[in-house]
Amino acid sequence: MQGSVKAHLDFFLAALSKQHQIGGIVPSQRFLINKMIEPIPPTYRGRIIELGAGTGALTLRLAARCPEAEILACEIDPVLARDGKESLLRAGHNGRVQLLPIAAENLFERLKSNGEGKVDFVISGIPIACLGRKEVNALLDSIWGALREGGMYIQFQHSLIDRKRIQARFADLRIAPVLLNFPPAVVYYARK
Ligand SMILES: C[S@@+](CC[C@H](N)C(=O)[O-])C[C@H]1O[C@@H](n2cnc3c(N)ncnc32)[C@H](O)[C@@H]1O
Repeated sequence: MQGSVKAHLDFFLAALSKQHQIGGIVPSQRFLINKMIEPIPPTYRGRIIELGAGTGALTLRLAARCPEAEILACEIDPVLARDGKESLLRAGHNGRVQLLPIAAENLFERLKSNGEGKVDFVISGIPIACLGRKEVNALLDSIWGALREGGMYIQFQHSLIDRKRIQARFADLRIAPVLLNFPPAVVYYARK
């Protein structure tokens, strides 16, 4: 089976069996991805963290837009992470673009215990609307801790349920609707 067809099928099957973890039934599409990566300059040379990379739909476009950036992505579902990794390899990305089959929480622990520096961008597709209050707050704390002053947390969601929670952590918050996506989405741009 062709790689991208298999990746879509795996995504759909994962969504059927783990709806709360996946939060959608198809990977993000072009308009949403473009809105998500818009604030990151094409000449950016630092590290970008991506949470909940799925099959790598956004990772691939981000890697193409920012050819000098280092992208460190994670995906909790091992099958989707493998599909994403294969797509990245097929597109010729290795080394500077990594997709690890681990949870965001573990990625932050790893970065902390390795004493790695802070970043300018954390971009996330994790369906935080499906998480409990404590989990969302813990994730927002980790994202805040990983960002430099002035850094940006970019998150898409299919509802506005978590607007207040995000705003409680990131007072500087802008929201953009993306109607040309299935399902329609909103993008949060939160500045530290
Ligand atoms: C809505 S999908 C987005 C996938 C991809 N970023 C896209 O835009 O097509 C959310 C993804 O987040 C992953 N995810 C959920 N909780 C996670 C966690 N705690 N750590 C890492 N990934 C997680 C899910 O398995 C799923 O693949």
